[in-house]
Amino acid sequence: MATILLGAQWGDEGKGKVVDHLSAKADLVVRFQGGNNAGHSLWVGGKKTVLHLIPSGILHSRTRCLIGEGVVLDPQVLFHEISGLKQAGVFQDERERILVSERAHLILPVLKEVDLIRENSSRGTSGHIGTTGRGIGPAYEAKARRVGIRVIDLYSDDATLLGKLDRLHDAFAHHFDPDTLNEIRVRTWALIPGFRRSLEPLMVDSTALLKHAHDSGQEVLFEGAQGVMLDLDHGTYPYVTSSFTTAPSAGIGAAFPKILRSSRVIGVAKVYLTRVGSGDFPTEMRGDHDPDEVRIGEAIRKAGGEFGATTGRPRRIGWQDLVALRHAVEVGGIDEIALMKGDVLCGLDEMGGVFKVATAYEGADGTRSDRFPARAEILSKLKPVYENFPIWKHAHPDDPAFATLIARIEDFIGVPVRFVGFGPDREQILER
Ligand code: GDP
Ligand code: IMO
Ligand code: MG
Repeated sequence: MATILLGAQWGDEGKGKVVDHLSAKADLVVRFQGGNNAGHSLWVGGKKTVLHLIPSGILHSRTRCLIGEGVVLDPQVLFHEISGLKQAGVFQDERERILVSERAHLILPVLKEVDLIRENSSRGTSGHIGTTGRGIGPAYEAKARRVGIRVIDLYSDDATLLGKLDRLHDAFAHHFDPDTLNEIRVRTWALIPGFRRSLEPLMVDSTALLKHAHDSGQEVLFEGAQGVMLDLDHGTYPYVTSSFTTAPSAGIGAAFPKILRSSRVIGVAKVYLTRVGSGDFPTEMRGDHDPDEVRIGEAIRKAGGEFGATTGRPRRIGWQDLVALRHAVEVGGIDEIALMKGDVLCGLDEMGGVFKVATAYEGADGTRSDRFPARAEILSKLKPVYENFPIWKHAHPDDPAFATLIARIEDFIGVPVRFVGFGPDREQILER
């Protein structure tokens, strides 16, 4: 049986925590897209682990973790994460726990440099994406341009690999002066022997692995990164990431799609909204409709610890947006929701006892719509139409106020809220 878990908003919904919780029953946990732009925080017994690349099932000793071919893999980040987990006593031998698809594309130094150069040169313009600066966009670009380097390519003979590396570097040469590019070429070549040595024992034919898992009835959990609203096709383009974050992506980025035929898809959503990087969202607490919102947003950021797990950037805060969530359910292929972090708002005086939920948007000409628009430029100009809900005492389905909120969410988006998170720890989640 397969389960796919996706972010249903703009990332950081609490996916890592839910994956860690569900992994108790999983034989295999699979990342199928994104790279170390992700930051998934897990709390177990008061101890925090942050993972960027290794799937969030790793803390369960019998679960194996696969990095699928849809992922863009920075080997230096992988080795750093492995050594941190070893030091923490999570495993002794990574070969027993971590597998890497031979077809996954590598993030090499030139791709990280290009990401940073573009970010710095576009600052203050509408072309600034506010990426995590980890080389994700350029890596997918190199892949689509057919100049990318895959894990398996490391094991070509030196002359063949050098030719491939030249094609990659040449494709991005216009960003650099010749001396700088040459220094990057030399630095990259010096990394290759270490990459070859460390990746070879982890490298697998992921299709064969997943076929075996399917044929032998294993429980497989597919772990999405980012969120549906950051999807390259269905998110707030161009302020999105460079991979596909919807459920069908799992059958491409970890290719044995037959295993997904009877899968269930869980979308993780926070009770409120957050976003990092550029790009608007209609319910952001910017204070233009209500001056108190800025203060409320700051209080939520502080209470919820809303700072990026990858870059440390403060996350932008907003009210719940059911128009966006229903869009995510539809395009993501989501069957049920895990609703997280309702506990953060309990007892928060700044809320004034009221929680707002958008169920439509009003344009400048007064027309109303409850469909999420395709044009990102207009998002900050739309006026959300809110329904008010009383703040709950406990983020628990037995709390009447929280139950009312859950019922409205389910009614609007058309799928059930199956899980409720009420704290960061592994155990602080219940299944309805
Ligand atoms: P991810 O990227 O989707 O895995 O989410 P992040 O780990 O980046 O951010 C979610 C944050 O919220 C982390 O610090 C989690 O420990 C925390 N968290 C997750 N679920 C809950 C919850 O139900 N309540 C509270 N208070 N914190 C949670
Ligand atoms: P997790 O898995 C939140 C955002 C960046 C930026 C845009 C593009 O922890 O939810 P990229 O580096 O991917 O080219 O940046 O996407 N972004 C995330 N936001 N959580 C993430 O991952 C993100 N990964 C990328 O902030 O706006
Ligand atoms: Mg995160």
